[in-house]
Amino acid sequence: MVGTAISHDDSCHFGGGQSAFYARANTVPLPLIDRAAGIHMWDVEGNRYIDVSSGPVVSNIGHGNARVAAAMARQAETLDYAFPRLARNRPNIAYSERLARLAGPGFERVSLTSGGSEAMENAVKLLRQHAIATGRPERTKVITCEPSYHGATITTLAMNGEVMMAPFLAGFAEPTPKVPAPFGYRLPPNHDAASYARHCADCLEAKIRELGAESLLAFVIEPVGGLSTGCVVPPAAYMRRIRDICTAHGVHLVFDEILCGMGRTGKFLAAHHWPDARPDIVTLAKGMGSGYSPLGAVLAPAALVDELAALTGFEFQYSYNANPIACAGGMAVLDEYERLDLVSRAATMGRALRDGLDRLKANSPIVGDVRGLGMLLAVELVADRQTKVPFPSELKPTDRVRIHGLNNGLMIYSRPTSGGRYGHWFIVSPPLTITEGEVADLLTRLEATLADLEGDLGGRPGDKTVL
Ligand SMILES: Cc1ncc(COP(=O)(O)O)c(C=O)c1O
Repeated sequence: MVGTAISHDDSCHFGGGQSAFYARANTVPLPLIDRAAGIHMWDVEGNRYIDVSSGPVVSNIGHGNARVAAAMARQAETLDYAFPRLARNRPNIAYSERLARLAGPGFERVSLTSGGSEAMENAVKLLRQHAIATGRPERTKVITCEPSYHGATITTLAMNGEVMMAPFLAGFAEPTPKVPAPFGYRLPPNHDAASYARHCADCLEAKIRELGAESLLAFVIEPVGGLSTGCVVPPAAYMRRIRDICTAHGVHLVFDEILCGMGRTGKFLAAHHWPDARPDIVTLAKGMGSGYSPLGAVLAPAALVDELAALTGFEFQYSYNANPIACAGGMAVLDEYERLDLVSRAATMGRALRDGLDRLKANSPIVGDVRGLGMLLAVELVADRQTKVPFPSELKPTDRVRIHGLNNGLMIYSRPTSGGRYGHWFIVSPPLTITEGEVADLLTRLEATLADLEGDLGGRPGDKTVL
């Protein structure tokens, strides 16, 4: 069995790496990765893994890109750092302009951060500061979806629709008001996907009325879900409806595209799929740096940012925001997007991958649903395809799929949302550079993984892989 190279070395007195902080019991052993190239990673024992989910949907341009590495090295030698409150730097200016042009009208201003949680925090802080500066200090509340994921800072943890965090947040940070996410697979009785999405939009309007529109800053939603929902794609009618509701009540609509943006869904922004439901703010991260440089962004309209700048200005800044090396890395990543036509590839190769996953679904009794958009796909595991009943959470299907994946040369991103109460799924979102041959290899290994998982989940209790 591979994937047992290292989990945690209990005899290690100093350091131990990030994994020293993770739970030591009942966890999937983490391979010690040595090197990576393209869609592949190798551990210290020489085992090769396909990076099935691009880590947590980060490595969009693939690993070991010498052009990006060289661009970052050149920038480090020329200008490593300049603090944006003391000096401007050209990589920041050039990168912001390029991102804004790709995002299009409505997103002329770009505030850079060092990751997704920071971007989400800054989006909320920007709207809060704008509300105060324009004489509406009573606007404090943000509505989010149940389930959802927006980050791991204290504010974003409170925004997340994740019931397992309730004890952690109790008396510590106030969870944001929630409305149901527009799931389309396992639905309440008497609903189809369209009617349930209408119900979810009605819940948003009801929540705005209940809280009072004047108390609200924003409704924040992942326009295409990530791990929290298993890549739920809402119907277009839902997107138009939430846009109309937010406009009617003067509530900002914010798209968290930290995971689904940057071309993953086959368009540069997921928002570009619904031009008549354009959000007021978009957050990005992950694929911006594609693993090479820590980057995130808040995209906002010039009118809003310039109005605030003329009043109080935005007052918050982290030391590493708009770092020249990070920006040079982001710029080189965009060069690769252009050179390799990665946004179109996300659409075309995404279709091939989706077809393959649908074929696996047809042949596997434990695959209930395949969903997503472009090269952002999820596979939902079920105990019974007829009834859509999920596996019991105690069986830890998301951990088991990771273990069987490692044994078949696949590194798979999967963990339970809200303790598994909405079901169990894993993400299939390889680097956008994946070739047809590599898609075929991934699918063959995934078929073997699902067969092993089926045997494991279906066997007698004593036969199960020990977790
Ligand atoms: C939709 C979404 N929002 C926000 C975040 C937080 O981003 P980061 O991990 O870069 O802080 C993530 C990360 O997984 C995410 O998927």
